[in-house]
Order: sequence, then structure tokens, then C-alpha cells
Amino acid sequence: MIVSIAADHAGFEEKQRLVGYLAELGHEVIDRGPNSDDRVDYPDFAALVARDVASGEAERGVLVCGTGIGMAVAANKVHGIRAANVTSPEFAALAREHNDANIVTVSGRFVTDEVNRAIVKTFLETEFGGGRHAGRVEKIMALEQ
Ligand code: RB5
Repeated sequence: MIVSIAADHAGFEEKQRLVGYLAELGHEVIDRGPNSDDRVDYPDFAALVARDVASGEAERGVLVCGTGIGMAVAANKVHGIRAANVTSPEFAALAREHNDANIVTVSGRFVTDEVNRAIVKTFLETEFGGGRHAGRVEKIMALEQ
């Protein structure tokens, strides 16, 4: 799977670890930066990944900031994006099964690398459930009109 990933300064170190982990899992990684932990503004990096996913250049996205919250709020402003801020593998599965989330945002400051790895793996390997969830996701997307 092609996965676009980015972070801000608070998520930089965790993003570097997740880039390696995604490659280990066999995914093709588009690393949208940053390339250092210099202070940056998370909406700039959320936009890069969100546009990769919305355009189809990447199939899924991963964003890391201090909490994951700012990245989710920013990414969800881009049409076509359903970004979920996730702190457990269980929520990663539900974000895929129920919400068809196409970007997962995680915390570089409050969640361990081990848990973030499990979140990302689950997020990439879980299919959308469809069925009763499909109409609800359609209603979410209709809100963009
Ligand atoms: C940066 O200090 C912090 O605000 C950012 O990483 C993120 O947690 C915002 O939601």
C-alpha cells in the first residue's frame, strides 16, 4: 500500500520510527517531512498528506503531532478526507470498520511507539465494514457539499 506520512516537531521522532516500521511491513512510504525537529506548524504538514490521500497519490495517510488532535482537525478540512485521531488499536479498527477513515493521526508525546505501531498496523490492515456503515459515511461526505 502507498502510505503518505508527515509530522510536526512534536511528532518528528515518532514519525521517523514509523517510517521505518511502515517500510518493514512492506509499504511504499511517501515521507512529506519535516526532516528535522525544528519548530513547524502542523496544518502545513497535515495538508501535504491530506492532499496525497484526496488525490489518490497515496491510499492512506499517517500524521503525528503532540496529541494527534491538531493534525486531525486540519486534515479533515480537505475534501475527501476522513481523519481519525486514535490512541488505541481498538479505535484504529473501528475507525476503519465504521468510519472508513483514510488518515490516522497519532500522538508523539502521550502514546508509546509500541502502541502507535499497533495502531498503524491495524489501521492499514482493517477493511471498511460497509453495510449499515456505508450510508452513514455517505452522509458525512455529503456535508462537504
Ligand atoms: C505543538 O506544540 C502541538 O500543539 C502540536 O504538536 C499538536 O499537539 C497540536 O494538536
